[in-house]
Amino acid sequence: MEVFISETYEEMSKAAAKVVAKTLNAKPDAVLGMATGSTPLGLYKELVRMHREEALDFSQCTTFNLDEYVGLPVTHEQSYHYFMHENFFKHVNIPLQNIYIPSGTTDNYPAFCEWYETRIEECGGIDIQILGIGSDGHIAFNEPTSSFNSRTRLKTLAEQTIDDNARFFEKRQDVPIYAITMGVGTILEAEHIILLANGENKADAVAAAVEGPVTSMITASALQLHPETDVFVDGPAATKLQMADYYNWIQKMKPGAPQM
Ligand code: F6R
Repeated sequence: MEVFISETYEEMSKAAAKVVAKTLNAKPDAVLGMATGSTPLGLYKELVRMHREEALDFSQCTTFNLDEYVGLPVTHEQSYHYFMHENFFKHVNIPLQNIYIPSGTTDNYPAFCEWYETRIEECGGIDIQILGIGSDGHIAFNEPTSSFNSRTRLKTLAEQTIDDNARFFEKRQDVPIYAITMGVGTILEAEHIILLANGENKADAVAAAVEGPVTSMITASALQLHPETDVFVDGPAATKLQMADYYNWIQKMKPGAPQM
């Protein structure tokens, strides 16, 4: 795991966008794993800017989203389908047929989940997976106690997550209770993972994920087992990291490090 601490949300988003752009430039037909929520908005904004101003090309890539609420039609403003099109897809040149988002309205969830996993595999696996983190330490909607071997499936959201996400809905009762989500096992198979976190309310979850024990109580801690995970945090989200000085020291000393 490598931890990059930026002062501001904007700087954090730009640093993460550079990594995604590097992957795409090296492999134009890369498979990107996408996340929703408030965290990656700045990253998407920066990728859109790079597309417009620096000709960053998405025409050959494929995307797989992490999750979707069960019961929300794609036209619902809080569905992750809607979110992705509004905030990212409609601003770049990814062919529509290359976009995969779990269905929240299928009438056969087990079959859909199996198909989703198979599609990821058929597309060659995920080259770079973007992740946010929940205040309860979840990645995607893998709530506490999710198995590290879990695959795409239906999950019941934790009450903490329902509380956290109520801010996007008119009232708490409108937040869906179930979601379809990639599993921890699915995520761990990505070649490269970038986890983003901003804001003080993520500080405990970030510290537990990065420096705490590996435990299914904090599913983001599973990333400690992944060989290529970069964690991008802003100042407020980094406040509980005991080794923050060391992470900054590593970045400072990097130019002089022997080439690997
Ligand atoms: C979204 C997702 C979730 C969010 C997490 C943080 O696709 O998988 O794990 O990343 O709940 O949400 P925000 O960014 O809204 O704080």
